[in-house]
Amino acid sequence: MTVGIVVVGSVNLDLVVATPRLPSPGETVLGGEFRTVPGGKGANQAVAAARAGAACAFVGAVGSDDFGRMLRDNLVAAGVDVRGLRTADGPSGVALITVDAAAENCIVVSPGANATLAGLTAADRAAIGAADVLLLQLEVPLPVVAEAAGCARDGGTTVVLNAAPAAPLPRHLLDLVDMLVVNEHEAAVVAGLPAHTGTAALVDALLALVPTVVLTLGTRGAAYGDRCGLRLRVPAPVIDAVDTTAAGDAFTGALAVAWVERGTASSEDALRWACAAGAACAQRPGASVALPERARIDALFHEAYRNTA
Ligand code: RIB
Repeated sequence: MTVGIVVVGSVNLDLVVATPRLPSPGETVLGGEFRTVPGGKGANQAVAAARAGAACAFVGAVGSDDFGRMLRDNLVAAGVDVRGLRTADGPSGVALITVDAAAENCIVVSPGANATLAGLTAADRAAIGAADVLLLQLEVPLPVVAEAAGCARDGGTTVVLNAAPAAPLPRHLLDLVDMLVVNEHEAAVVAGLPAHTGTAALVDALLALVPTVVLTLGTRGAAYGDRCGLRLRVPAPVIDAVDTTAAGDAFTGALAVAWVERGTASSEDALRWACAAGAACAQRPGASVALPERARIDALFHEAYRNTA
């Protein structure tokens, strides 16, 4: 089966410098070579889903600059359907990214054209209604996120919201979400709980808001909970990470594919496969360029979990 996924989200050009360590406020550090890499949480998740085997369409906006042309070409090269990609007058979205020696990063996003995304076309709505999964993030204006979620609900399409960057969310949007994918920081913000709240408490609090919760835990793997009472915890593959940028996007894109493909098979394996995708992404530098193909995800999945019952 080919899974159909529509992403409504952001697309950025990532301006990346590696440094031995991330600077403190007011501090200058000398970094390494400067690189430009296609990114943006929406585009990354679209490419991740396409590389994981889905037929994927992207609804978003690039600017009328050279970056916009590069970003459009990158999505096309990945096999993503870009008929829903607008070109807005003005600059494309840009992300300033610093990556340290421990593979952690700091990201500042200038939304550019992403901020102009307003209102879905009839073609966007038809694509969302015909898809298996609508994938959403929070780097485009909230009204269009909510409109897309409402359209998916009308069409019986599963809504997966990756609530990144972290933001408190209105009830009318949460009511349209089938699965929420968040890291611990994002989970605490959405749930209105203090930082460092424990994993189980975060999952329980979020299940009061949405029916299914996936908590990404970085090198500790992922936790899962749903309103049927199922709770899962899966470890992450042990790898040498070089850059965790877009690892969460690789996880979310792959999870959307695995979730539909699993049929009656194990939800736990779908989570493991998503963890393998995130880990495979972290093994290579950059965002879009590091997102793994299905064969690489399969290989790491089997290597990491072969002794798992
Ligand atoms: O999730 C990683 C992405 O966040 C980067 O590609 C950057 O563009 C920001 O959107």
